[in-house]
Amino acid sequence: MTGTELVALAREAMLCAYAPYSHHTVGAALLGASGKVYLGCNIENAAYSPTCCAERVALFKAVSEGERAFSAIAIVGGMHGATASPCAPCGVCRQALREFCDPDALLILLGYDGGYDEYTLSELLPESFGPDHIKR
Ligand code: THU
Repeated sequence: MTGTELVALAREAMLCAYAPYSHHTVGAALLGASGKVYLGCNIENAAYSPTCCAERVALFKAVSEGERAFSAIAIVGGMHGATASPCAPCGVCRQALREFCDPDALLILLGYDGGYDEYTLSELLPESFGPDHIKR
């Protein structure tokens, strides 16, 4: 699975985004260690706080299906489906990924030039807190 393929899947996932309040649509494609890809879109709610980001929808789908290790996630998004600029994952999603990803897992974001840029999880979440910190 190439970065380009994962980005294309994230774009497909974004088509299902339910974002009637913010109009900011997001899609994510998460690559599991098994090779399977899990798609997610943001799902908003009239009560606002139940809203879930695309990245966590993909992650929770995957974990609920038995996958617990991931090597990459592509994320695309923007206002009204526009994807001309990067959609950086929120802090909560970075932390959620931290639970199941190695520090060198790739976060693939769209660039400003129509291509994409790759970051490691540890670049986007430095000095992080994870499961290793609460082992006895
Ligand atoms: N959103 C995501 O899906 N992922 C992120 O990492 C950032 C924000 C969604 C949540 C909400 O539905 C909308 O974008 C505006 O915040």
